[in-house]
Amino acid sequence: MQEFAQRVAETEFPPIAEAFGWLAGRKSDKELLNMCQAVPSYPPAPALQQEIARLALEPGTGGYTDIFGIPELREGFARHLSADYAAPVAARQVAITTGCNQAFAAAIMVLAQAGDNVVMPAPFYFNHQMWLRMMGVAIKPVNAFAAGGAPSVEESEAAIDGRTKAIMLCSPNNPSGAIYPPQVLEEFYELAKRRGIALIIDETYKDFRPGHAPAHGILQRDGWDETLIQLFSFSKIYALAGYRLGALVAGPKLLHEAAKVLDCMTICPPQITQRAVVFALTQLDQWKEEKRQLMAGRLAALREAFSDPRLKFRLVSSGAYFAYVQHPFTGEASKDVAKRLAQQHDVLCLPGSMFGPGQENFLRFAFANVDKEKMALLVERLVNSQ
Ligand SMILES: Cc1ncc(COP(=O)(O)O)c(C=O)c1O
Repeated sequence: MQEFAQRVAETEFPPIAEAFGWLAGRKSDKELLNMCQAVPSYPPAPALQQEIARLALEPGTGGYTDIFGIPELREGFARHLSADYAAPVAARQVAITTGCNQAFAAAIMVLAQAGDNVVMPAPFYFNHQMWLRMMGVAIKPVNAFAAGGAPSVEESEAAIDGRTKAIMLCSPNNPSGAIYPPQVLEEFYELAKRRGIALIIDETYKDFRPGHAPAHGILQRDGWDETLIQLFSFSKIYALAGYRLGALVAGPKLLHEAAKVLDCMTICPPQITQRAVVFALTQLDQWKEEKRQLMAGRLAALREAFSDPRLKFRLVSSGAYFAYVQHPFTGEASKDVAKRLAQQHDVLCLPGSMFGPGQENFLRFAFANVDKEKMALLVERLVNSQ
């Protein structure tokens, strides 16, 4: 009998795949409200699709690129970040990756090894948890809601020990949708800097936050790239999830090491997507704004629907793409609740248990997949399940 590596064998199975498995043999003829995976419900902008088609016909598009991506994209994304954060970001601080998950994997591989740990607010994004587990890097969980809608800097500092290599934040957050105030992010930066560890912030959903003020002022500080590591994704904002593109923004020393990891993993990010995103960064501002407002409309409709006095499910936190909800079935495992909602009430969501310790009373709804007109139907089905 073959034996597999213990750390991989002990890692939980991919949650999205597991949740889709609950639908096997589904007989209901009602429309499924699929709020399981965080994917845009619409295709890329028509102009972007045309650009991808045009690029596909060019002879060189199938080739490799530099490990960190093509210079035009590194420069273009650095310009985008400079404008978005009102701070100078240079192309040499930008590595393009094959999705944001790869950016996280590379950053952690450079920073930590088995026996080390990362301080991370729970609930946390399951792929972060899974990768850390496979690396043998422990998670030191802190309460994601300790300071209102954000984790407490003091609690996080108390969790740091001699083996802590990083604090890992995600804002806007998956799974809670919480958007941490700039001041909180800056305090975490000061803490990480003082303690000589990295601050990693996954900003995959940054373009869905309300308003256009910079998400934080960390990039405006001298020497930020000795502490901060930013992770981004082009999956959500340009509806390019299956085209796989993200970014790792960090200092030259970290990127030098990350090059080794990225080269071995994928050699380079997909060229066709890189060139398509060069186009998207300058041509799609209007389209992006429309999508940001579309999501804001869905969020408002969801919040309104959850104010139904009959509903015993409580909206704990919401924003960007996600709603984090306390279910009323106290004492019952969140996975059993989620399965029942999928199999008997035509609502697919994820159980809190997939997002870390202490989350059995919660469910995550990725509402970005569902039109705002459907939010009332969601609440009706939840009321029926009570
Ligand atoms: C917080 C967060 N980071 C990263 C990712 C993955 O991004 P990508 O598709 O760019 O790998 C997701 C996808 O759901 C996410 O929610």
